[in-house]
Parts: sequence; structure tokens; C-alpha cells
Amino acid sequence: MVKISLVKFTEKDCEMKKKMTISKILNAKGEKPLVMITAYDALFAKLFEESADILLVGDSLNMSFAGKSDTLSATLDQMIYHTNAVCTGAKESFVICDMPFGTYMSKEQALFNAVKVFQETPADAVKIEGGADKAEIVKYLTSNGIAVCGHIGLLPQSVRSEGGYKVKGKDERSAMSLVNDAKEIELAGAFCIVIEGVKADVAALVSASVGVPVVGIGAGHGVDGQVLVFSDMLGLFEEFTPKFVKKYLDGATLVKDAVATYAKEVVSREFPSEKYTY
Ligand code: KIV
Repeated sequence: MVKISLVKFTEKDCEMKKKMTISKILNAKGEKPLVMITAYDALFAKLFEESADILLVGDSLNMSFAGKSDTLSATLDQMIYHTNAVCTGAKESFVICDMPFGTYMSKEQALFNAVKVFQETPADAVKIEGGADKAEIVKYLTSNGIAVCGHIGLLPQSVRSEGGYKVKGKDERSAMSLVNDAKEIELAGAFCIVIEGVKADVAALVSASVGVPVVGIGAGHGVDGQVLVFSDMLGLFEEFTPKFVKKYLDGATLVKDAVATYAKEVVSREFPSEKYTY
């Protein structure tokens, strides 16, 4: 028997403090593409807040922040820690916390853990990976006051069981299965669906098949918004760059050059000069 105390999500509370709300996210469909970006800490969250509609505390932090080879070892406590940091840095942002691998294996476990996220952070919603197979869990969460963003297509938490990151929607069966996944997740009450690593025409079909916004990553432009992992799009993560990532900054080179210049100036005693001395 799982003991829980329920936190009631109210749209009114949300509208009092956030520039983005669930109703605005729903209304964006067909009107304006949604801008979602990952954030893992207060510093970057504050920088992203002005331009992004939604900040996603993705379990991708296990790779780009913690240096692991996949997302699977991220823990709920780590997600809670990073979500609090993001919410502290970007108080007006709509923040989604990823439920990490192994924390939503049953509906009872999912609710217990999602309630923990809601009680220990000001996150607005959680995200869980999976399609029709997770619809019952999504329904259990949404009917108990937890706002849920779905995640279908390429599921990073399935990388080990699938033996790699595989693009989805390559044949008709896979395309129809994705449409069904999205419909089931919508029916279960999700307010938004992330679709990852899917052929662009199929992702567009999925988006056209549901009433909630479908936000793509590696899914072309026929969807209702885009999400990118910030360390990828700022060119900070050098291990590998997926085809769908556009680097808006050569962050790694800029950071390395800056630190190299600092090191040179420390060694030559050029820094700290008079200007930086009391
Ligand atoms: O963890 C993450 O950053 C994500 C994005 C890839 C959507 O789930």
C-alpha cells in the first residue's frame, strides 16, 4: 500500500506566477511554435528564461552534466536537486522535471515518485518516456493532480534494451504505432508530447493526429515546437553531435580559449592587474 499526500495542481496558482501555463501551452498549438530547452542549473536557467517557453530538466543531465554514457543511472534525488536549482534561477518559467529510469515502473510507484517531485520542487509538470504502454500510468498521474508531458519515438531510457539510439517511424507500421502512442497519451491526459528521433513526415502526421502540442527533437519542423539539449546547441558537449543538433555557439572553443588565456595571464602575472586589485 503506497502512502501519499496529494498536491492539487490548480491552473490559477500557475497563472499567478508563471509567464507560461498549461492553458497557454495548449493554446499555442497551430498558433506559435513552442520553444523548449533543457536546463540543469540556476545559472543557465536564468539565461534561458527570457527566450524559452518551457525549461526541461532532462535526465540528459546524466550525460552532459554528470559525464555518464547514457541517462539510465540518473536518480530521482538528482532530478529533484537540479529541478530546484532551475526553478530558483528561473522563477517565472514553466519547468518540467524528467522522471528518471526505474521511477515509473507501475502506476503506484509513478504517483509516489511524481508526488515527491511536486512536494520537493516547484516543478509544473513531469515527463515520462513511453507510448500506449505507459498510458495507464499517465492517466493515473493526471487524474491525481500531476501534469504530465509524454515522450514518444526514440526513448533514450531504452538505449540499452534497444542496443542504441534508433530513429523511429521508418515504415508504415512504426508510423501508425507512433500515431497510436500519441493518441493514447493524449487521452490519458498529457498536456504536451515530446517526440524524439522520428522521420519528419511521420512526426508531422503525429502532430496532426492529436489536439495537444507535439514538441520535436530530431523530428523535423512539421510539429508544434522544438526542444534541444542546451549543452548540444551551445556547442559545449563534444562527445558526439547528433545530425539534428544545430550548434548556435561554438561554446567548447570559446570556453577553452578563455580558460587558456586566463592560465597564460596567471603564469605571466599579467592577471590580476591594477584594475582587479584592492
Ligand atoms: O532528457 C532530455 O534532455 C530529454 C530531451 C532529449 C527531450 O528528454
